[in-house]
Amino acid sequence: MAFISDFRDAALFFKAWIDKPMVMGAIAPSGLALTAVVSKQVDPNSRGPIIELGPGTGVMAEALVLRGIDPKRLILIEFNKAFCHLLSDRFKGATIINGDAYQIKKSLEPLNLSPTAAIISGLPLYSRPQEERIKLVRDAFHFMAPNTPFIQFSYAPASPIPVGLKDIEVAGLPLVWRNLPPARVWIYRKRQIA
Ligand SMILES: C[S@@+](CC[C@H](N)C(=O)[O-])C[C@H]1O[C@@H](n2cnc3c(N)ncnc32)[C@H](O)[C@@H]1O
Repeated sequence: MAFISDFRDAALFFKAWIDKPMVMGAIAPSGLALTAVVSKQVDPNSRGPIIELGPGTGVMAEALVLRGIDPKRLILIEFNKAFCHLLSDRFKGATIINGDAYQIKKSLEPLNLSPTAAIISGLPLYSRPQEERIKLVRDAFHFMAPNTPFIQFSYAPASPIPVGLKDIEVAGLPLVWRNLPPARVWIYRKRQIA
C-alpha cells in the first residue's frame, strides 16, 4: 500500500511540476534522508503549533508525526488544492490552509495561535526576489516562540536568506546527498538583541 501511495504521490507531484515548475521547485517529494534531517530539528517535547509552508503531499508532516508529534499541532499552508485534499485525508485534526504562504500574516492572524514551536518551509524561495524571502521570514518570526527554528530546505548551495542581517541568525547543515535533488537545510532564528 505504501508503495502504491508513494507512486501516486510521485505522479501527482510530477504533474504539478509540469504545470508550475517555479511553484513546485522539485520534481518529486522529499526523500527519507531529507525528511529525517528536517524533522530532527523539531523538538517533539516542545509546546505549541508547528507550521509547515509548502507541505506538498505531506512527507515532512509524516516524519513529524512518526517522531511523536500530534497531528493536531500541525498547521499546513499549501497553494495546490489537490495536495490540500490529500493532506486533509492524511492528517486528521491538522489545520490545512489552501493559500499563499507568503501571506502568512493574513492566514495565521485569525487563528490566534499560541507561539509556535517551529516553522518548516519547503517553499522554493529562490523563485522570489530576496526582499520577499526576507519579509516572509520576518513575518514568520511574529508567530514564533523566542529562539525557535525556521527550518528551510533548499537545493542551492547558498542560503536563500543572506548571512549578516542584523535580525536573522543563519546556520547551515551539511548537504543531504541522498535526495532528488540534493538539498541543504538552513535554520533561521530571530537574533536576540541584548
Ligand atoms: C519543493 S516542494 C516541497 C513539498 C514537500 N514539502 C516535500 O518536502 O516534498 C514545494 C511545495 O511548496 C508549495 N508552494 C509553492 N509556493 C507556495 C506558496 N506561495 N504558498 C503555499 N505553498 C506553496 C508547492 O505547491 C509545493 O507543494
